[in-house]
Amino acid sequence: MVQIVPSILSADFAHLADEIGKVERGGAKMLHVDIMDGHFVPNLTIGPPVVKSIRKITGLPLDLHLMITDPDKFAPLFIEAGADRISVHYEAARHLDRTIRAIQHEGVRAGVVLNPATPVAMLEDILYLVDHVLIMSVNPGFEGQAFIPNALKKIRVLDGERKERRLDFSIEIDGGVGAANTAEIVRSGCDWLVAGSAIFHSADPAATVKEMQHIADNAVAVRV
Ligand code: DX5
Ligand code: ZN
Repeated sequence: MVQIVPSILSADFAHLADEIGKVERGGAKMLHVDIMDGHFVPNLTIGPPVVKSIRKITGLPLDLHLMITDPDKFAPLFIEAGADRISVHYEAARHLDRTIRAIQHEGVRAGVVLNPATPVAMLEDILYLVDHVLIMSVNPGFEGQAFIPNALKKIRVLDGERKERRLDFSIEIDGGVGAANTAEIVRSGCDWLVAGSAIFHSADPAATVKEMQHIADNAVAVRV
């Protein structure tokens, strides 16, 4: 099922429970949580204690995007804090196969993330193992950046490979997503559309989630 996935990076962190309540009312089925370490990306966000607090105030699955240089060291802490899904960057995981298996061994879904300049071809020998692939449509680190259209090509290639090899990983996109490009992203074969500023900086986040979900559902109907 195609889903709009709010990224809480753009929410008001002083009122996080209220902000999450808004997107829940809008029908969101998953929350995207950006973890930045100030090394892999030039920004810092939150750590396990905040994830643990979020876990207590929502029943929605937590989709953690680890933008950190040492995923093997920190993934266990985020699993303990309540992550349902963990995505690690291809560019940060030195032994990606081991990292993915270690996360899955703990009963948590594991995915790999590609930066805009990393080709989909690098995933040939891990696709059969991962639960999802996250395609970055901005360079990671900040909300509110412009969408890089080349991500659409990468999604089409991935979706083609998924069909050809009869694999069942999900395809996720992150960065610069809003109502204006939702339809073409869905038509390219994407399942989960992460959106931060488009949702939380809108006047009515619940209505924006609903509107984007509606556009996405209509685009699925015409997907070839
Ligand atoms: C960027 C983060 C994104 C961010 C997207 O590094 O990974 O999840 O929240 O924000 P928007 O939707 O504003 O581009
Ligand atoms: Zn993200």
